Amino acid sequence: MSNPMVCIDAKSVLHGILEPDAFGGAPPHWEAATAAVPAGLPGFLDSATLSARRAAAGLPAERDAALRDVAAAVAHDPALRQFAWYLHWRVFVAPEHGVPWGPPALTRRLADRAGLFYELLALEFPARLAAWHQRQGYPLSVTAETVQQIASFEGNHLRGEGRPGIYGSQFAWLAMYLVNPYVRLGRFEYMLTMHHGVNARKHTQGGQVLALADEGTRVAETGLCLPGDAPADAGWIARLEETPEAVTGFPIDPAGRILRRQVRLNVGAWTPCLKKGMPVLDLHIPAGGGMSWSAVTESFAKALDFFPRHHPDRPFVAVVCRTWFLDPQLTTLLPADANVLRLQRAVYLVPVSPDRNGLWFVFLRDVVHTDPAALPRDTALRRALADFLNAGGKWNGGGMFLLREEMPSPREGVYRALQSEFCNTEAGEI
Ligand SMILES: CC(C)(COP(=O)(O)OP(=O)(O)OC[C@H]1O[C@@H](n2cnc3c(N)ncnc32)[C@H](O)[C@@H]1OP(=O)(O)O)[C@@H](O)C(=O)NCCC(=O)NCCS
Repeated sequence: MSNPMVCIDAKSVLHGILEPDAFGGAPPHWEAATAAVPAGLPGFLDSATLSARRAAAGLPAERDAALRDVAAAVAHDPALRQFAWYLHWRVFVAPEHGVPWGPPALTRRLADRAGLFYELLALEFPARLAAWHQRQGYPLSVTAETVQQIASFEGNHLRGEGRPGIYGSQFAWLAMYLVNPYVRLGRFEYMLTMHHGVNARKHTQGGQVLALADEGTRVAETGLCLPGDAPADAGWIARLEETPEAVTGFPIDPAGRILRRQVRLNVGAWTPCLKKGMPVLDLHIPAGGGMSWSAVTESFAKALDFFPRHHPDRPFVAVVCRTWFLDPQLTTLLPADANVLRLQRAVYLVPVSPDRNGLWFVFLRDVVHTDPAALPRDTALRRALADFLNAGGKWNGGGMFLLREEMPSPREGVYRALQSEFCNTEAGEI
């Protein structure tokens, strides 16, 4: 029997799946993926093992019929099958080739079954993750926790589309777990990585922590970062100068805004505590469930135990995060005791280059291209944010860091209290 998957070039496949512009019309690594096509039916289309793989992914048994149906449709369509193999190969066989960003929605070809196409492919995740984790020596319980992301992704699709499935972009993200120390521990996920955000220094005697804006940061009058496409004359530009004796720059208020007041730090008194290239834990928040204070502290405790045990050669200096709910504008929209605001106060907020679509995680749709008046308003958070956007507000998102020494017992206001003395004074040497 001939192999229906070989010898179909990328252009014909994209045409066949009605997505000629996917991956800019030229999917990276196409030839390498095609060269690895198996002779028979690929395992991800095998209906005999489907129930077991679905169960391992933590999805309910009632998904089986629909997943079998989409598997059969893919198996019998050479273009879809070749495309499915390509994605499978990029994410699971050769994840080191990078996340295949921008997979197409496939709704033209598969209509309501498009999300199930990606869910079917995602069933490969538990086995691949288990193999990677085994090589890292991670406990089985951590693998099981991390696999919960599949059900969490399905939850997003259920809330967003009203039917089971997984969004293509979230499917593609699965590659990240297979090439990084990246695990779920309690409420949060953590990826051990290298810091690429702002640098911060700590006072050797007083213990104050101060972050300075990066050289050349374009700052709005609000103290938040300007978007890359802002007019050339908008806002102002932060400078940062380092000499062997001193660092001169614009401080970031721990409440998340850059202050237009230059300070000069004597490097003898201020030592780096967070610097680009240092190991950090990049925090991610899977959907599903809130973010109570105990969930935060319990998860931090697990991270403090796990990473030194498994990666002693890469001692992390801080937990960092960049997401929609670290935008300081949220303080005016939610009650002070909201979980996300409690977390904001316990960390050092730093402004980031705006991610206008960061609210995807709240509305589960392209917010930039949706009329704010048409956004769903079924929860308190959605109503507050929709009102903000409807009134012409722009969402920036934000970033944060929390130094490792604060993680065992995070405290609201910890950086703000230490900070207020010089964030409220005139420019000068400190
Ligand atoms: C981040 C997160 C855990 C914060 O949750 P929280 O502040 O503890 O939220 P609560 O459970 O206290 O909910 C407060 C209100 O906001 C609503 N809400 C919270 N998160 C919501 C979301 N992502 N989408 C829609 N509504 C949301 C709740 O329904 C509730 O409204 P209600 O009282 O009308 O029911 C939560 O928003 C979430 O799970 N988000 C999805 C994942 C995410 O955003 N990850 C970040 C990207 S890395």
